[in-house]
Amino acid sequence: MHSAKRRAPIEMTGAEFRRAGYHLIDRIADFLDTIRERPVTTGESPAAIRTLLGPDELPEEGMQVGALVEEAANLMIEHSLFNGHPRFLGYITSSAAPIGALGDLLAASVNSNAGAWAISPVASEIEARTVRWIAELIGYPRDCGGILTSGGNMSNFIGFLAAFFAKAGWDVRKEGLRSDAARTLRVYAASTTHTWIHKATALFGLGTDCVRWIPLDAQERLDVAALEQQILSDGERGDRPWIVIGTAGSVGTGVIDPLPDIALVCQQHDVWFHVDGAYGALAAMLPDAPEELSGMAHADSVAIDPHKWLYAPLEAGCALVRDRELLRSTFSFRPEYYKFDTVAGEETLNYNEYGLQNSRGVRALKVWLALRQVGRRGYVQMIADDIALARRFHHLVDVHPELEAVSLHLSVSTFRYVPAQAPPGGVEREPYLKAVNEELLTRLQEGGEAFVSNAVVEGRYVLRMCVVNFRTSQEDIDALPEIITRIGRAVATDLQR
Ligand SMILES: Cc1ncc(COP(=O)(O)O)c(C=O)c1O
Repeated sequence: MHSAKRRAPIEMTGAEFRRAGYHLIDRIADFLDTIRERPVTTGESPAAIRTLLGPDELPEEGMQVGALVEEAANLMIEHSLFNGHPRFLGYITSSAAPIGALGDLLAASVNSNAGAWAISPVASEIEARTVRWIAELIGYPRDCGGILTSGGNMSNFIGFLAAFFAKAGWDVRKEGLRSDAARTLRVYAASTTHTWIHKATALFGLGTDCVRWIPLDAQERLDVAALEQQILSDGERGDRPWIVIGTAGSVGTGVIDPLPDIALVCQQHDVWFHVDGAYGALAAMLPDAPEELSGMAHADSVAIDPHKWLYAPLEAGCALVRDRELLRSTFSFRPEYYKFDTVAGEETLNYNEYGLQNSRGVRALKVWLALRQVGRRGYVQMIADDIALARRFHHLVDVHPELEAVSLHLSVSTFRYVPAQAPPGGVEREPYLKAVNEELLTRLQEGGEAFVSNAVVEGRYVLRMCVVNFRTSQEDIDALPEIITRIGRAVATDLQR
């Protein structure tokens, strides 16, 4: 340092920030205005994308900010896959509310550390309020414990860990997995449960073998009678029935497990009830919400994803645990070097005590902003519109001679292309249809006209569209059957050769 005043190479003056920032905002605004006219993806190969980034050499010297930001904008805007495109209907990845982008910019600029109230006063209070509003939207007690997370997996992990510490039957914090009883813990889940359950059981030391996979009923939902039977026989054997996972909107088909009935079984057998509502929980705010969602109110913990049906930019998940103190006691350690307990004589809410993270960014800001921008009414309208569009698509598929409608739940429609030349029956039909639809999907996804994904329903490989996209309109939906059958016909012809 050569002078009394420091000028670090990474610092920007207000004028420099304004120049680069205004330009970037212009680029983003143009991007939002033109997203409809762009392909969903350019379909470039990994090698082509690496080439675009230039030589893979750690820069020794820095470069000028304006040129750098322009280069980044070109790369991201001209070469990304746009999950905010009106015809992006894959997985469960929503379009992102533009106000969320402004929220993230503001959050990163102020850079509060939302791990503790003392160092993030406004951010912590905004998070507490956001958590309460999300609870209210899904019909869960407002005074529950809760925290914003990076997404569905993390929120499910938090519910899982809270259950572990609360209900394992020994002092998990102290003894960990050394207890013999660890081998007797049983998790109950349907095969339709998202793969977070594999990660949770594997990573938190119980092993995937602790899961009892409960069969599905005739409607592809967790079979409650089979669940109860399994809990009873495990109990008789000396195992410890510990946690049941119900899903409010499965990742494959969007089907909702019979949550009210599962809640009753959990109550009767004193088992923790966790609901993975990452996708579907927020549909509970609709006036004509599916009845099964009412069971969430009885859950001990719920995972919800604002980066799905609240259209928050990635990343934003939310974990709710009915017993706030229990959530805190799962994650809280208070080391001497943190002096966070009170501010101005008042007790404070410190989010490092409610989850896995210590330092935390301000995820709540973008969610809070969007909730205030459109209110409950705006969300009810957008979610209802998404569901109506999925239904419309499903109907179009149902009446189309070359398409087969398979399932429809919430805003997920599954279907497949069935060419005229498909074997009418016999052992060859299913493998043939799988091969056609797999290739169709590859061409569709790489082609950039529209984007859907795939699922397996009753052993059949199917295509799957999911509308969590406030940009998708009727026009986009109506265009899909033609796009899909056009590509399907080309695939069927090529497979014949
Ligand atoms: C039902 C369900 N649970 C959990 C997840 C995982 O969520 P995330 O990708 O936000 O971690 C998903 C993702 O689609 C999901 O659909």
